[in-house]
Amino acid sequence: MSTIRNIMIASTCALLVSTPVAAQMSEKQASNAVEFRQSIFQLVKSNIGPLGAMAKGKAPIDEAVIAKNAMRMEQLSLMISDYFVADTRGSGVKTHALDKVWENTADFAQKTKDLTQATQALQAIIANKDTANYGKGIAAVGATCKACHDDYKAD
Ligand code: HEC
Repeated sequence: MSTIRNIMIASTCALLVSTPVAAQMSEKQASNAVEFRQSIFQLVKSNIGPLGAMAKGKAPIDEAVIAKNAMRMEQLSLMISDYFVADTRGSGVKTHALDKVWENTADFAQKTKDLTQATQALQAIIANKDTANYGKGIAAVGATCKACHDDYKAD
């Protein structure tokens, strides 16, 4: 009984101790973190692709697709901050995220929010059948990608 108790105490202590130390990620943790956040952006890209084609007149306007993809991008945008909690600076893992992501956290959060809001605005434009602003609404989403990449993503 006392052995089990001691094990429980020991593992609780290990948990407590390991929490602050977790800031020093293993290479595996760092490479997972990079893979996951890049995956989010790949999905974002796949969702804006068809919308960009519509905005440029290269594909017919499909309101259902715009609404669905804007909703998906909104959801994906809400995951961005969680997947940047892992500070991979100096981990040696290959990433296009610039160190500034973890230096200007408030601005990075704002630029993430800009994407969320642009995708929400696009959904409202579709819901209101505001046809005159379909192109503008899509371009506004694209502008938030560029604004963040200009400051936080290496080419
Ligand atoms: C708040 C900042 C921010 C916003 C907004 C943002 N991105 Fe990014 N994006 C990044 C960062 C940082 C990286 C680099 C991630 C890495 O390599 O770890 C990145 C990487 C990417 C990548 C490359 C992923 C890979 O596999 O390496 C694509 C594609 C991409 N973004 C597309 C987009 C699109 C499309 C949008 C807008 C709809 C967008 N991003 C909005 C910050 C942002």
